Amino acid sequence: MISNPRIDEFKRETKIKAALFGATGAVGQVFMWMLSDHPWFEITRIIASKARIGKEYGDEVHWILPMEIPKNILKITINDFDIDAMKAEGIQVVFSALPNSIAADIEPKLIEAGFSVFSNAAAMRYEDNVPILIPEANIDSLSWIEKQGYPEKGFIITNANCSTTGLAVAMAPLKKFGIKDLFISTYQSVSGAGHPGLSSLDITNNVIPFIGGEEGKMIEEFKKILSVEIDIFPFCVRVPIMFGHLETVWVEFEKDVSINDVLNAWNESANGLEHLPSTPVRPIEYDPQEDLPQAKQAFYGSPAGMTVFTGRLKKQGNRIGFALLVNNVVKGAAGGSIQNAEAFVSKYLDK
Ligand SMILES: NC(=O)c1ccc[n+]([C@@H]2O[C@H](COP(=O)([O-])OP(=O)(O)OC[C@H]3O[C@@H](n4cnc5c(N)ncnc54)[C@H](OP(=O)(O)O)[C@@H]3O)[C@@H](O)[C@H]2O)c1
Repeated sequence: MISNPRIDEFKRETKIKAALFGATGAVGQVFMWMLSDHPWFEITRIIASKARIGKEYGDEVHWILPMEIPKNILKITINDFDIDAMKAEGIQVVFSALPNSIAADIEPKLIEAGFSVFSNAAAMRYEDNVPILIPEANIDSLSWIEKQGYPEKGFIITNANCSTTGLAVAMAPLKKFGIKDLFISTYQSVSGAGHPGLSSLDITNNVIPFIGGEEGKMIEEFKKILSVEIDIFPFCVRVPIMFGHLETVWVEFEKDVSINDVLNAWNESANGLEHLPSTPVRPIEYDPQEDLPQAKQAFYGSPAGMTVFTGRLKKQGNRIGFALLVNNVVKGAAGGSIQNAEAFVSKYLDK
């Protein structure tokens, strides 16, 4: 399964060299899959924990994705963290799929060394001038890299926590109605905890109504992404599925909003992002069938896993309710980060 059927449309003569930190993890694997045939980026250095240095990716990775591992990444050697070597190799872009504690140490060094860093970790998300970028929701925050000192200096662009990403994509087109407050319940897959993540003894035949730190992240990140000061009431729950976070949402608006108003706003979302190879033709797909969306659709859409699926739209009193599905490791992580890097290349390198 190739990640992006539109690859030929976007081909460029020389690809931009990129490094990937955390290549063997749940998110790192999605980066490896999506970048194995990406039209703009070429991964020339991959990094994991020290014990893997010098070994081949295919021998070291415990592949958890539903598609076959691409053949052209099997023999890539896992390398060490060496800033001088990265510069000598002509690497410009760095993708980070590191655990927070490691990212907190490594990412500032990469920025300091002048790289363009695109991170999935939360370590730097809440700092001033660091955008939590979701092109469909807040493309304007891309220019914050200038406040970080770009082009003279390196910079970091983060993407949101996975459950926040789905919520922000679905809510951004509705912001114009005046969001008063939000009640959310999530049903989050186990891949959200990384690999090896949760013990199978804890999650098999079970549902766990607590994910450490997740509810606070949803509140803080949603407000930063959409620049709103509202009350948000999340419950985040872990469920025994592999991929995809389902969420149910109740929102109250300042204006009187009909179901058709919501559908029209969703249909118009992401106009103007078609030039980014990883942007789906329709970033939000609504299905009126009453039992959709379902987690098994996590890798549906084109590019696979980049669409946010919505359904169950209803109005009760003054509130609009709906369900959404986001692929936590693709749109909610690696794919979102790649799309952010595409937005950067398009605005600053290819202008
Ligand atoms: N999973 C999701 O759905 C999701 C969604 C959004 C954001 N995120 C964020 O994305 C990041 C990665 O998440 P994940 O789920 O992919 O985690 P993971 O499965 O635990 O993977 C962590 C990766 O980091 C590598 N690593 C660990 N220590 C390292 C070190 N000292 N130096 C270099 N590499 C090191 C690991 O290599 P080894 O295999 O060698 O240990 C592995 O490749 C986290 O910050 C997470 O919060 C995750």
